[in-house]
Amino acid sequence: MISMRDVPLKGRRVLIREDLNTPIRNGVVQNAARIEAALPTIRHCVEQGAAVMVASHVGRPTPGQWDGSLSLAHAAELLGEGLGQEVPLVALGNFDIDIAAGQAMLLENIRFLDGELTNDDDLARRMAAPFDVFVMDAFATAHRAHASTHGVARHAAIACAGPLLEAEVAALQRALANPARPLVAVVGGAKASSKLRALEALADIADRIIVGGGVANVFLVARGWQVGASLLDADLVDVARRIEAKVDVLIPEDVMTARGEPAATPAVLRRRGEVAADERILDIGPASARAAKAALASAGTILWSGPLGMFELDHFGEGTRVVAEAIAESAAFSIAGGGDTIAAIDKNGARDGLSYISTGGGAFLEFVEGKPLPAIEMLKARAR
Ligand code: 3PG
Repeated sequence: MISMRDVPLKGRRVLIREDLNTPIRNGVVQNAARIEAALPTIRHCVEQGAAVMVASHVGRPTPGQWDGSLSLAHAAELLGEGLGQEVPLVALGNFDIDIAAGQAMLLENIRFLDGELTNDDDLARRMAAPFDVFVMDAFATAHRAHASTHGVARHAAIACAGPLLEAEVAALQRALANPARPLVAVVGGAKASSKLRALEALADIADRIIVGGGVANVFLVARGWQVGASLLDADLVDVARRIEAKVDVLIPEDVMTARGEPAATPAVLRRRGEVAADERILDIGPASARAAKAALASAGTILWSGPLGMFELDHFGEGTRVVAEAIAESAAFSIAGGGDTIAAIDKNGARDGLSYISTGGGAFLEFVEGKPLPAIEMLKARAR
């Protein structure tokens, strides 16, 4: 990929694709991490004297339809505060607008436009034409072949990788391509199906996989232990057996369970295999957490995706807390990705202990799976 650092920016019109897709409730940004991660790239371009237009999506609006709850107005404000200048929000599709050197503007939610999701070639051309340089910095959307991530790079005069995207790729490569051993992966989350391909890829490269959450339930059942009324992707049990045949999987030896509404029910400790038919597993137990902590203490590299239980509730958050703290205390190169994982890291004050926190959710997982990310492939093609 051509690096933005090698492209002269002064006096040039620069379009930067960022991922400013952050959860918004009642017009208030719940977690500004992606906006903060995008700021250094935008600030650098502004300071270099470029005329900057930023593009991003937020949410999944219906193309061609305005939806005020998915406006990027809040992001324009936060970017403005971060840059120390007003960042005007530009009306839909108005790419060819006057921008002064050293000024930044933000395009309204690019997914309001027809043709963004379908990677429409005309839209991509219209987006690229008024700019001298296109900077793809939205690692978290690099797995989408959309007009503003993929098509625009085909038509841009110069298409290059931004520093955030480069840092994300470098951190993931450090964890996956030639990791300091042992490489220990922690894979949790409610839905095992969303982690399956990543688990299969990790089975080939990790030395050990620690499982929790709904992912662990599949492995428990594969070993013949009942999981009661817990969330279970039963059709993945054979896959779990295949994964276990390849790599050492640390399966919870004890679990915390609940009958009924988790928020209103105390956590009950059960040994694995002793979960009653009407109980749900909502966390790993203390012995499992100790075993995970011991495995993490000797790791050379740690990759973390998915909490180990219903960490939002304190009484089902102990397993995730112990693991988050063990990762933060470890001397290993550690990388984590995904919205829930980051929320768990923040809840446990573990952010500073991680070597790298990815802005990617789906993109992080697809990279771990070894899938080529279309936006990155296009940047590579443009560099040839
Ligand atoms: C994400 O949150 O993972 C990215 O912003 C991509 O969003 P999408 O899944 O709606 O394409």
